[in-house]
Amino acid sequence: MQTKNPTALITGASNGIGRALCEEFAKDGYDLILAARSVVKMQEIAANLQTHYGTHVTVIGVDLESVSGPAQLHAQIKQSGIVLNVLVNNAGYGIFGEFKNNDLSDTLGMMQLNMNSVVILTKLFLSDLLVTRGKLLNVASTAAFQPGPFMAVYYATKSFVLHFSEGLACELEGAGVSVTALCPGPTASGFQDKAVMQTSALIKNKKLPSAESVASSGYRAMKRGKRVHITGFMNNVLAQSIRVTPRNWVTALVKQITKSI
Ligand SMILES: NC(=O)c1ccc[n+]([C@@H]2O[C@H](COP(=O)([O-])OP(=O)(O)OC[C@H]3O[C@@H](n4cnc5c(N)ncnc54)[C@H](OP(=O)(O)O)[C@@H]3O)[C@@H](O)[C@H]2O)c1
Repeated sequence: MQTKNPTALITGASNGIGRALCEEFAKDGYDLILAARSVVKMQEIAANLQTHYGTHVTVIGVDLESVSGPAQLHAQIKQSGIVLNVLVNNAGYGIFGEFKNNDLSDTLGMMQLNMNSVVILTKLFLSDLLVTRGKLLNVASTAAFQPGPFMAVYYATKSFVLHFSEGLACELEGAGVSVTALCPGPTASGFQDKAVMQTSALIKNKKLPSAESVASSGYRAMKRGKRVHITGFMNNVLAQSIRVTPRNWVTALVKQITKSI
């Protein structure tokens, strides 16, 4: 059921940055569609948002890593006649470790979720966004700006998300649809456990920014229609300095700051 409020679909809404984004949209008067696999967790989040903000929330359990998952999600939303104002492609994860040791089917599954599901959902919902002159928010990463030894495929998937988003943003100039690539650095969430990267120098003994602070900054960037938003001052400095540093130096540095310690 669609109310008079604008509607946002948030993938990966059951935890971390996606969950925190739900709160940003709810505060701003959006109706929400929460999509991920953990239905019970999303029902709890929905109940909380309904209590605090009176938000109308629909929860959809879906595995977006399965080839048919994105189309199933689209079909279910279309059946209820909802037209989206915002699509947030946030669901994703990383795999830490040497490529030669990582399981190939796990790697392909991550690529399916981090890249293919983003493209499929964008393709399926773009007609909604063109009608509503809406917004697309794709969660990339600071990993998008350089190669990433020990997370080589994950970094490459996020480069894909960044470049896809920027290319599409340019194509859609004048069409009334904004595209924002949100690029957080390491952020406290379920990401580190899922990637099994507790020993990585990137995060070990580090105090990471909260998912809430990343979501709040990303939400404001999306509202402004900013194309690429890197969260945090140092993340910005690093992403910019990489552009004038020899690529081999950058990759060697990332190896040092990512390796197990
Ligand atoms: N945390 C970081 O350091 C960091 C930094 C830069 C970028 N990012 C990006 O931020 C995004 C959100 O990650 P997070 O940090 O918030 O991690 P998180 O706490 O682990 O949350 C990941 C979300 O993705 C969902 N998800 C995972 N696999 C899924 C699947 N097969 N189908 C549907 N949903 C699935 C999870 O829900 P279910 O398990 O319930 O399905 C969960 O809601 C990701 O794209 C990640 O790459 C994270």
